[in-house]
Amino acid sequence: MNHKPVETMRWIGDEQTGSLSLIDQTRLPLELIELNCTTVEMVWEAIKQLRVRGAPAIGIAAAYGVVVGLQTVKGQSEAAFDAHLTKAIEYLAGSRPTAVNLFWALDRMQRRAKELRATKSPAEVHRLLLTEAKAIHDEDRELCRAIGRHGAALIPSGSGVLTHCNAGGLATAEYGTALSVFFTCQDQGKALKVFVDETRPLLQGARLTAWELTQRGIDATLICDNMAGQVMREGRVQAVVVGADRITANGDTANKIGTYSVAVLAHAHGIPFYVAAPTTTFDLTLATGDLIPIEQRAATEITHGFGRQTAPEGVAVYNPAFDVTPARLIRGIITERGVIDPVNEENIRRVVS
Ligand code: MRU
Repeated sequence: MNHKPVETMRWIGDEQTGSLSLIDQTRLPLELIELNCTTVEMVWEAIKQLRVRGAPAIGIAAAYGVVVGLQTVKGQSEAAFDAHLTKAIEYLAGSRPTAVNLFWALDRMQRRAKELRATKSPAEVHRLLLTEAKAIHDEDRELCRAIGRHGAALIPSGSGVLTHCNAGGLATAEYGTALSVFFTCQDQGKALKVFVDETRPLLQGARLTAWELTQRGIDATLICDNMAGQVMREGRVQAVVVGADRITANGDTANKIGTYSVAVLAHAHGIPFYVAAPTTTFDLTLATGDLIPIEQRAATEITHGFGRQTAPEGVAVYNPAFDVTPARLIRGIITERGVIDPVNEENIRRVVS
């Protein structure tokens, strides 16, 4: 069956007056609404507030954000253009700290600009930076499809699978990473039963993954995060597949808070735990996961989830948005270039470098 993929974001118009239109993911699943980002501040806010989220999608949005940011330097000197470019990149880099795809995409835009500035005018560089952002966007589509193909080979028909957070089309250009594996299984006619962790505190699993899977008619069952152990104990899960925000040289993997607990549970039940991620999510400059910056978010996300107060005023709150799963708990990392198994530094460098 041919399913129309979710279009997470799109660029409308040219580099000078165009804008980034993205699905406002904070409104899902009740409303499918696009937000038109016409300033770099709007792109920053959309990333910060998780209107656009998921490691690859953040990177793509930031690349377009650079193009939007350059719209306010039209007609100024070359020096003003260069200064403005650096400022826009530094500003966007400050939106969220954990997903390395953000920094990867901004570095790529910076390098491309530097290359082009040697021979081209600021106006020409601006135009070609939009081409670069579109290339990042298009390439991510391909990466996701390839991840799906490699991952689907690991999942037998009839399996129960579990995922955490949202590593779907909404988190990427389209199709996703972990969900790409499930979508590809579906395309191949394999029957799967997907258990979806709701993913406290912001419910990316309940709001986004459950939405994407049901849109495509995939058998999806929503569970609270604290039910995963029982579901595994009942023998309902044959594999876990999750996404990643940053994978270090030794294979330690940062992903949405709660992923580590799922990996420990999978290990205790002898269930293979897979991470699905493009090579753009690896950070080989960091030796281990202890070095990954973990985003800390507002206490109100826990005390006032979705507007209603559920904890006493003034209670201390700890709200890390990500955790790190050690490489030893990961059976394989599914990349666009194939599956890294066993997960160790040598295999990672061979595939990623
Ligand atoms: O805080 P979020 O919603 O941006 O966190 C997203 C995740 O943790 C995803 O699993 C990860 O970015 C991979 S998306 C393909």
